[in-house]
Amino acid sequence: MKVVDTIPRMSTLVKIFRKEGKSISLVPTMGYLHEGHASLIRAARKHTDVVVVSIFVNPVQFGPKEDFEKYPRDMKRDEALATTAGADIVFAPSAKDMYPDGYSTYVNVERLTDVLCGASRPGHFKGVATVVAKLFEIVRPEIAYFGQKDAQQAMVIKKMAADLNTGIEIKVLPIIRESDGLAMSSRNIYLSESERKDALVLHEALKKAEAMIKSGEREAKKIIRAMKELISAIPSAKADYISIVDITNLKGIKVLSGEVLVALAVFIGKTRLIDNILMKVEK
Ligand code: PAJ
Repeated sequence: MKVVDTIPRMSTLVKIFRKEGKSISLVPTMGYLHEGHASLIRAARKHTDVVVVSIFVNPVQFGPKEDFEKYPRDMKRDEALATTAGADIVFAPSAKDMYPDGYSTYVNVERLTDVLCGASRPGHFKGVATVVAKLFEIVRPEIAYFGQKDAQQAMVIKKMAADLNTGIEIKVLPIIRESDGLAMSSRNIYLSESERKDALVLHEALKKAEAMIKSGEREAKKIIRAMKELISAIPSAKADYISIVDITNLKGIKVLSGEVLVALAVFIGKTRLIDNILMKVEK
């Protein structure tokens, strides 16, 4: 496994791989890797000759009051995990390299970014789409891997990749959870011992929604109310949003039918966590 920390060096390697006729995949991450990231790297390993894992805590996707400064970083541990999962290259550029003084080009995906996390984190998806577009340009992969954990992000990237005619195939893989159900996240490290227990409420609220839908409930309002009740019973928890949306356009729905996404963002103390489930609903 090679660590590449400059853009010119990455570009040179990409040219060599292309000349050799090798296929390339990219797994974009912000590091502090866990099994969720590893699942993407393992899938990439199976499908392409060269697997590039990018590790870059992208300043432009964090709001001014968010956790950019304290976002967990551990390069040595990440290198080991990426290697074990099957990465050939860890690409870790510097912020100065990615956004030199005077940088002024951004990618904005309209509409899909107005709702859910886009509504509570203005500018977040502009930062995500911009950095991923740049990574796509630098690495020029055939396939890029994303997690369903960030369902809206995956949709925004798919739309961006298609709208910009990148020709890159976007694969979205299932959420990897801890054994008690908590969705894995680099941000789980922020949780105190008691908050870690409280954080289970996200998955519990989603399981409640799933059970209600399975037993025939089709009214979004009722499902959301039941989820809210579970969350408000936990003193450290504060819902940011709880939404049931159409998976094709992320618009809120009143009566469930077809493929729906039940998604929520909840503050546990100061830590904002997200989770979701996808459900096929018969009429
Ligand atoms: P990060 O949070 O590091 O996540 C990198 C990728 O891993 C994303 O596609 C995310 O959806 C996926 N992932 C995270 N937790 C997961 C889990 N529990 N199960 C499955 N997949 C999981 O998302 C980002 O970084 C950034 O926004 C990025 C796309 C790299 C742009 O900066």
